[in-house]
Amino acid sequence: MREAEPLQQVERTYIRWRGRKLSYYGGCDYFRLASHPLVHQAIREGLRRYGLNVAASRLTTGNHQLYQELEKRITQFFGAKSALLVSTGYVGDLVVAQSLAGQFSHALLDERAHIALKDAAQLLDCPVLTFKHQDIEDYARTLRRCGREARPIVLTDGMFSHDGSVAPLRAYLKLLPRDGLLLVDDAHGGGTVGKTGKGAVEVAGVSRTRVIQNVTLSKAFGVYGGVILCSPAWRARFVTRSRLFVGSTPLPLPLAAGAVRALELLQRDKSLRRRLNDNASYVKQALQVAGVPGPATPGPIVSWHPRNAREAASFQKRLLAADILPPLTRYPGGPPNGYYRFVISSEHSRRQLDRLIEVFAKFHAAKPL
Ligand SMILES: Cc1ncc(COP(=O)(O)O)c(C=O)c1O
Repeated sequence: MREAEPLQQVERTYIRWRGRKLSYYGGCDYFRLASHPLVHQAIREGLRRYGLNVAASRLTTGNHQLYQELEKRITQFFGAKSALLVSTGYVGDLVVAQSLAGQFSHALLDERAHIALKDAAQLLDCPVLTFKHQDIEDYARTLRRCGREARPIVLTDGMFSHDGSVAPLRAYLKLLPRDGLLLVDDAHGGGTVGKTGKGAVEVAGVSRTRVIQNVTLSKAFGVYGGVILCSPAWRARFVTRSRLFVGSTPLPLPLAAGAVRALELLQRDKSLRRRLNDNASYVKQALQVAGVPGPATPGPIVSWHPRNAREAASFQKRLLAADILPPLTRYPGGPPNGYYRFVISSEHSRRQLDRLIEVFAKFHAAKPL
């Protein structure tokens, strides 16, 4: 992987690129809250009222009522029993795994799990077995390989960012031994999918009893930071046992203030989620009508894998001609030459979406995808 070209976002859904203004479908700022004036205002106010940094671990002198308030609001938003704020979504997976090292007989990992979960699995201090992506039969086979006495932990993304699909959590739980646990990295699903934005857990309609759901504040909520949604008992364990949590400074306070405002906005302004769902279904339905193949997934993601470099170059040319930045995504675990991932937001206009649909439809008509 190489470092990507610097980009400047403008007007919430565009990008300034080599002197041109192009529609932007990169990033995962699903509601464009990173550029919402009320979130910015809360961050400025947060800086004025609280200062920037507590400069100490929460276990020493770095705790602050704002962290507790944010955790309380997140708990309410997600309908969880408790929440622990950590510095990023990536760190959330590591905090859980560090604290649970030695507690499980096996870790079962979806082969396409995010690298944060792959790193986390290494910290669990038990054998790591991989199962085929979202494949229940292979999952069941892998569980059987662990033996009757096994106490497994399963690690999977909630909503997968490469295609917007959601892991079959209900089926995983049904087959999981009673004292097993599901660690769901729902960085993309938290705030975006489910009737009220509770993520993969809500899509699957499962209780949180044997589930730890990790979300990020840097995507749907547009700010920064990670959150572990779990029981109070798990939270107490993470707070005292994770070296990462014990030994690091928490989120800058203005960002916590911004996250509180972002949560409020998403909870209060129902039109945000409605627009996200409408925009995503608008594109997906239009592509279906045009005969463009693609999985029917709940998440606001449309992706396409070019079959070769020539096809990728030709698609790229058409996107640029339609004033769309080609969002070629190269990410660990994905195809080596990358794929095109379009992240639909609540703020893209119908005109922008129509242009995207047109590129896909014409490309498909010329040479079926
Ligand atoms: C599935 C998944 N987990 C974790 C992360 C990391 O989240 P954060 O950027 O908050 O560290 C990402 C971010 O790209 C992600 O896609």
